[in-house]
Amino acid sequence: MPSTIIARASRAIRPADFVTAETIAPVKHPSIEALRGSFAEFARPSGADLLERTAPITEWIRARRDARVWPYARAVSGKVGATIHAEGETSAVRHGLNFATQDYLSLSDHSRVLHAAAEALRCYGVHSGGSSALQGRSDISRALEFEIGEALHTEHVVLFSSGWGAAFGAVTALVRSDDHIVLDRLAHASLQTGAAAATRNITCVDHLSVDALRAALQQIRSTDARNGILAITEGLFSMDSDSPDLRAMQSVCREYGATLLVDVAHDFGSLGPNGTGHIGRDGMLGDIDLVMGSFSKTFASNGGFVATRHAGVRSYIEAFGGPHAFSNAMSPIQISTVREALRIVRSTEGDTRRESLMTAVLTLRAGLAAYGLRCQGDPSAVVPVMVGHSAIARLASGDVLSNGLFANLVEFPAVGVRAARFRMQVQADHTPAQALEAASIMACAITRSRTTWEHIRSSA
Ligand SMILES: Cc1ncc(COP(=O)(O)O)c(C=O)c1O
Repeated sequence: MPSTIIARASRAIRPADFVTAETIAPVKHPSIEALRGSFAEFARPSGADLLERTAPITEWIRARRDARVWPYARAVSGKVGATIHAEGETSAVRHGLNFATQDYLSLSDHSRVLHAAAEALRCYGVHSGGSSALQGRSDISRALEFEIGEALHTEHVVLFSSGWGAAFGAVTALVRSDDHIVLDRLAHASLQTGAAAATRNITCVDHLSVDALRAALQQIRSTDARNGILAITEGLFSMDSDSPDLRAMQSVCREYGATLLVDVAHDFGSLGPNGTGHIGRDGMLGDIDLVMGSFSKTFASNGGFVATRHAGVRSYIEAFGGPHAFSNAMSPIQISTVREALRIVRSTEGDTRRESLMTAVLTLRAGLAAYGLRCQGDPSAVVPVMVGHSAIARLASGDVLSNGLFANLVEFPAVGVRAARFRMQVQADHTPAQALEAASIMACAITRSRTTWEHIRSSA
């Protein structure tokens, strides 16, 4: 498939003539203040009054809103599919192509998933009633634990009401202040926050680098043989769409008596044999020390989990993984939704949906490349379109929206200060034609925004 689709995509696009006088819409240029600055400047406010010192960020956000370069906090009306109706904080409801939702296999509107949720509502009501440590579980929670364990070849699974909670809970339950954490420097905020809460002995290592991991472990073990080391990475990094060599990482960890934790939030379900993600791709099912994931992407719900072969680890996470014991459990509707989604993920229909997803992904990447745009990483449901300068990216965020494309702008702190990008998220229900249209809207917007930025800068 891919080569024919890509060939068709390339034929459909004429990069040389796509920016014509007509495509450069007349624009009222935003003020330079709204395009300058970043959240980085507000990360460490000073002053004794916690309330007063919030004023500068509010002003900055207001300037961005007024200039219509504040694409955040959009609200969707109706169902979330390949197209949506949504409104921004400063824009009316629009209809457009939706490349901003993490429903990778388009399961959130699948008839069987909807039926499972409705049945759970009928049988169990709407509430989980308490934390998992007390009486928040239902019989279907146990079934889900078993089924996740079966899919990942791990005997023990602990559920959380969010993926964030699973990450934070796993790290803080297992790591004491004398222990060490070695973290990929691009690991998700939930893992970074968990690490910071657990210990001050944190080493951030180069992204994906097995050599850097080895060097860090070697360094720690040269002075400390008594305490534990948790190494943390992800199956698929969701801002870069790349993944580590999991086999090599697990092997290096074993060599130095360290434990490996892999966050599979974005690849579990959407990639790999039977949806087993990169752990399955690398033939490592059941061989990774600790696996954690989220149900908020491919599984069309909310919730998260930690999976392990060690009964003791399960007990520790249940007892000391704060959000597991001190936050209400997943509701029965969420549990039932995830169970049905998992059944589809593991079936031949799951394979078909993953193929459709990949067709749309490859078409989108080919379309963007034909316009000269650089996509980061490897093909996955996440397609990061690199822009770099946040002013240009902000301008483009308003432009794509007014041309009928929903795509998330990612700036600091989600990525580095000069590494702004659009994180386009593809779904199985996207058609190749929609992927090509999205590529064209994105490319025109970025091209126009570069010109606009030059104009604003030179006349400032
Ligand atoms: C890599 C990664 N881990 C964990 C999480 C948290 O998952 P949840 O949305 O279920 O809280 C996310 C969500 O953005 C994520 O991208």
